[in-house]
Amino acid sequence: MNTKNEVKLQQEYIEKVKKINKNKNLKYNILTFGCQLNENDSEKLCGMLEEMGYTKTEKPEEADIALFNTCCVRENAEDKLFGKLGELKRLKEQKGLIIAIGGCMMQEKHITNKIKESYPFVDIIFGTHTLHKFPEDLHKTIEEKRKIEDILDIDGKVYEGLPIRRSSKTKASVTIMNGCNNFCSYCIVPYVRGRERSRQPRDIINEVRELASNGYKEIILLGQNVNSYLRVEKEKGIEFEEYEGVNSFATLLRAINKIDSIERIRFVSPHPKDFTDDVIEQIADCEKVCKLIHLPLQSGNTKVLKEMNRKYTKEQYLNLVEKMKNKIPNLTLSTDIIVGFPGETDEEFEDTLDVVRKVKFEQVYMFIYSRRVGTPGDKMENQVPEEIKHKRFDKLKALVESQIEENNQKYVGTIQKVLVEGESKNNKNMLSGRTDSNKVVIFEGSKDLIDKTIDLKIVSEHMWYLKGELEEIK
Ligand code: SAH
Ligand code: SF4
Ligand code: F3S
Repeated sequence: MNTKNEVKLQQEYIEKVKKINKNKNLKYNILTFGCQLNENDSEKLCGMLEEMGYTKTEKPEEADIALFNTCCVRENAEDKLFGKLGELKRLKEQKGLIIAIGGCMMQEKHITNKIKESYPFVDIIFGTHTLHKFPEDLHKTIEEKRKIEDILDIDGKVYEGLPIRRSSKTKASVTIMNGCNNFCSYCIVPYVRGRERSRQPRDIINEVRELASNGYKEIILLGQNVNSYLRVEKEKGIEFEEYEGVNSFATLLRAINKIDSIERIRFVSPHPKDFTDDVIEQIADCEKVCKLIHLPLQSGNTKVLKEMNRKYTKEQYLNLVEKMKNKIPNLTLSTDIIVGFPGETDEEFEDTLDVVRKVKFEQVYMFIYSRRVGTPGDKMENQVPEEIKHKRFDKLKALVESQIEENNQKYVGTIQKVLVEGESKNNKNMLSGRTDSNKVVIFEGSKDLIDKTIDLKIVSEHMWYLKGELEEIK
């Protein structure tokens, strides 16, 4: 069956479940773990559920369906799921709600086995390649009252036209590619998300146009390796249709930059090894592309980088940063770093600190290395003891926090363009927005500023956010 017909078939299942649910006022609760790609997948699951007649609830005890979208990139993500499942057992016994688990973790055999053995009350298990079939799986569970396991080991196709219920009205994520071909030796993602597959330019452009017409201001392009968008297709001769001049990541940025009423474009994550000059040029040229670029470092030591299979050296990374800083005015950078990769010595870890000191990142996402079953890193013999990993993590954290504090000072007294996203989560009397460099700014203002880009004067800094004031109208 081609993908169009497959989506049509799922629409039919949506209608069938909707009919069964008519006038029942049913609710769903969804919990999403992991990265923005997973968040975007959850928005699709929410879209399907709402079309099937369910409304969202934040309280699991009110839910008729509890859905988990899982992540397995590090061990603590997995632990969280098992904790939550334990809590749900009682609810299942009391009111027989449907429990469904999907996402990356479900692509791991040892995990699905564990669920079947220790949590037999779970109704539906589905993987990353079968997300679009959720209506069919749910229909089967409801009608046939049996457990469903719907997991594919082969790469899923790209399905267009699934319903979507977005979590924000200001900014929208648009997945441009699925999967990853890089096989960094610590990482489970290529095994659970499959090989790289890009969406067609026309589908992406049309989605962004629709978002623009619905009032969205910020677009976040998502993929595990966004700057190799369409590369595999070109290398393997897989057909794609050029649209609006889009035949690469650089041209995609250019085309989206032209779409009226979109004000900001961000993307995560690019890979340093694929950061070609045409992409750098477009970032510099396209006024809507935010000048905060996420450039995952992982380690600052060339030997560790080689062991990680990252395909660049410390010097190549620093040279790339230098080149980008020269070509892109007002560039700021954020990064991901792993501490305690197998074999990493104290001396090698110092290289990571050295790069952090040199680049002065706007934001650093720090992770303690976590062994992932099936990856080359897990089989390496020289695993770093937990205690040392934690010590290195604390050292890196202290450096990063001191840099952020220093960097925040630079904002105080400046005027920043802030896209207002909504009420502040911690203080309902304040509004919250973000700068081009993705810093959160909290300020007092009237609610009709939500969704607008405004000038704010930064009056103070507070580590993870800045405080702003409205400029008087001149
Ligand atoms: N494709 C993206 C994101 C991958 S997952 C990229 O390449 O940047 C997000 C981050 O999780 C990675 O950048 C890495 O820093 C971290 N990560 C991945 N596997 C990990 C592991 N086994 N242990 C600790 N951190 C890990
Ligand atoms: Fe994982 Fe590396 Fe792919 Fe990122 S690029 S998803 S870290 S294998
Ligand atoms: Fe986690 Fe899967 Fe994303 S493993 S980080 S949710 S791609």
